[in-house]
Order: sequence, then C-alpha cells, then structure tokens
Amino acid sequence: MKLENFKVLMLGDAIGTPGLEQIYTKLPAVLRENDVDLVIANGENSDEGFGITEDIFDQLTDYGIDVVTSGNHIWSNADAGEILEKNDRLLRPHNYYDAPGKGWWRGIVNDVDVGVVNLIGRYFMTPVDCPFQTLAKLLENELSGCKIVIVDFHAEYMNEKKALAIDFDGKISFVAGTHTHVQTADEVIFRNGTGYITDIGMCGGIDSIIGMERSAILQKIRRQVTQPYIPSVENGKMQGIFIDIDIKSGKTLGITRLSI
Ligand SMILES: [Fe+2]
Ligand SMILES: [Fe+2]
Repeated sequence: MKLENFKVLMLGDAIGTPGLEQIYTKLPAVLRENDVDLVIANGENSDEGFGITEDIFDQLTDYGIDVVTSGNHIWSNADAGEILEKNDRLLRPHNYYDAPGKGWWRGIVNDVDVGVVNLIGRYFMTPVDCPFQTLAKLLENELSGCKIVIVDFHAEYMNEKKALAIDFDGKISFVAGTHTHVQTADEVIFRNGTGYITDIGMCGGIDSIIGMERSAILQKIRRQVTQPYIPSVENGKMQGIFIDIDIKSGKTLGITRLSI
C-alpha cells in the first residue's frame, strides 16, 4: 500500500504513428525512473491523426497505459462504437448524448479508489450535453466516494476548461485540458486543492501545426483548400504532466510538465 502520494502520468494526444513512436520509445524509461501509479493517455488522433483502432489501444495498454481517453475524433473510424463497448478502459467524452461507450472508469489502484473522467467542451465545438452537469451526476452516482478523480476535459476554450476546474475545486483531484495539442505553462493548484492545466500538449512532431505536416494546414488556413493531413515527424516530443496527489484528501500536491 502506498503511504502518501499517488502519482499520475497523463500524456497528450498522440498524433498518428509518429506520436505513437514517441510513446513507445520514451515511455518505458520514464516509467522505470518514476514511481507512477496510473498512466492516462489521449488516443483520439492515434490512427494517422483521426480516431483509434483496437490494435493501437492494445499496444498502448501493453506499454503500460492504464486508461485511454479521447475526444471529438473518436468517431472517425466506423467501428469506434464497437471498440468502445468492448474496452472498459477506452473512454469517449461522457457528455455525448446516448452514444456508444462511456466516459468514465473506476478502479482500485494500489489500494486507492480512483476515477478517470473524459468530457468535451461546448465552445467552438459541436453541441453536446453540459459537461458541468454530466460531471456532477457522475460524482453523485458512478464515482460516488471515489478518493481521487481525474478529468480529461477535451476542449478548445481556456475559459471553459478553467471554469469547470474552479466549479469543482475541492470535489475532484485534477482537470487536465486536451485538444489544442499545445502544452500550456499555466498549471495551478486552486485554493481547495484541485489541480489544473489548460493543455497537457501532444505526442508527435512539434515543428508542425497541431502535429500535422505543415503544408496541408497552411493550404487550409491561407486558401481554404483542403488536402489530406499527414502526421508530422519533425522534432518529435512526448508531452504530458505528472500529478502528485495526496491519497488521504484526494487533493493535488504537485504538477510537473513533461516534454521530452
Ligand atoms: Fe486531438
Ligand atoms: Fe480533439
């Protein structure tokens, strides 16, 4: 049994094969060197930028990732619903209405009752159920009594991400933003103990736009000409955060950004 701290590693969206390669080559040493209890990674872009396959999910879990979260791109592959229904540790944002799969996982990890939640934002994104009400209902029901609750809030708008963290300050352990693929330097522990960062970053080529080869996105932004997006291999990084959580209170004690 762990006596004090519970350590979580969260990895940002893995962008296609180059992103997965970053994880496969760098994660084993990171796990050897750090006493990590739970690893969470966002897999929504892992299948060449769009969605995830069952093979990729299996590989990620083989590499020590415990829970795979996702976001708007989870639905890119036709069998997404089937994969979600089959795999308890593959999450989609829980505030999609009446969709296959679910957006929460609960388990006992090193004697600690831990919950992971995946939500998606509503600003500059497609219409979905209210993430605030969805989280409140989960905490009242499926995750009632959970000592540690970590949320991957997949959203575009910083104010919305921070508002959710502040609304649930003291009720959950951490809110980690994903979706923008840009690691922010605004990690903070709010007054009642909930930790927060606007975006944990991505795994993939950083010399890019959102992890994709620059040419197609330049064409899109400059001329509205759509070309296929190809995951970038330029200046590959594995990005994410370590979170130290007090196992007695469930409050965040420390946040350390990772970009290697
Ligand atoms: Fe993404
Ligand atoms: Fe996304």
